[in-house]
Amino acid sequence: MPFDPSQPEPGSTRRGMLVGVGLVGVAGTLSACGGSKDDDSSGDASKSGGGLGKTSDIPVGGGKIFKSEKVVVTQPKQGEFKAFTAVCTHRGCTVGSVSGGQIHCPCHGSAFNVTDGSVAKGPADKPLASKSVKVENGELKLG
Ligand code: FES
Repeated sequence: MPFDPSQPEPGSTRRGMLVGVGLVGVAGTLSACGGSKDDDSSGDASKSGGGLGKTSDIPVGGGKIFKSEKVVVTQPKQGEFKAFTAVCTHRGCTVGSVSGGQIHCPCHGSAFNVTDGSVAKGPADKPLASKSVKVENGELKLG
């Protein structure tokens, strides 16, 4: 019997099913990876020791914002380092700059003191939560 292109190949239905099953399998794998990746990323900061660079990068009386770590490190006095969350307590923006002894949020103008993270200017009404930072061989580390 000659080949008739209008007729489906005997195996085409089965092939379609296999592709469908394959996609479900991939989607399942992707979502599983996404879940475990989130777990890994939260664990990475502690595993890596939270290295933030040299103490000499932090100006005395000022500070530096580490956006990817969501941390701001300040040096209120020579050799005294403090760390705070860089997430503004008003609406959750990442703070944008440190100057004049204050950490400034660009979203609505809140400011926090570099000495203790307390509110210097609203609308934020809660201080930036402090984080622990330590110095090892001139390097700043979280935790
Ligand atoms: S989110 Fe920072 S001032 Fe509003």
